Amino acid sequence: MLAEKYAERIDKIFSKYPTKRSAVMPLLYIAQEEYGYVNLQGVEEVATLCELDPTQVKSIAGFYTMYRERPKGKYWLHICTDLACALRGADEFYEEVLHELKLDHDNDTTEDGTFTVEHVMCLGACDRAPMLQCNFHFHENLDMDKMRELIAKWRAEKS
Ligand code: FES
Repeated sequence: MLAEKYAERIDKIFSKYPTKRSAVMPLLYIAQEEYGYVNLQGVEEVATLCELDPTQVKSIAGFYTMYRERPKGKYWLHICTDLACALRGADEFYEEVLHELKLDHDNDTTEDGTFTVEHVMCLGACDRAPMLQCNFHFHENLDMDKMRELIAKWRAEKS
């Protein structure tokens, strides 16, 4: 249970906000950290903590891309394919990354659970495309040679 396991952290978060319901987003991060994604149990626990209805918490989690709705790979790659990046080859780069990792669809996870690839809208690094965010860290001015190096590095780190 989040309330027991993260009691100190949760109290600290609550102390920063005027009402419990205002803390829903940081508490969703804790749920995601605990369960690997925002599952039903996490939603219900956060709802109880924030004194909200679970449907309210679920709708918040569903709105923001940083909350995972399904279990993801250890490395969660967000590749921006929005307009400015698309003009710098991001669509082709995204397709090549899917191909390199033998994935068929957006948001798929590799069989070994190492990588999940998802295309997203602007991440604010438009002049440094192709770019991606891996577990919230940016990698910019990429090409497939650099990408293969990163994939090899992440695979080595995982094993
Ligand atoms: Fe891709 Fe802005 S359009 S980071």
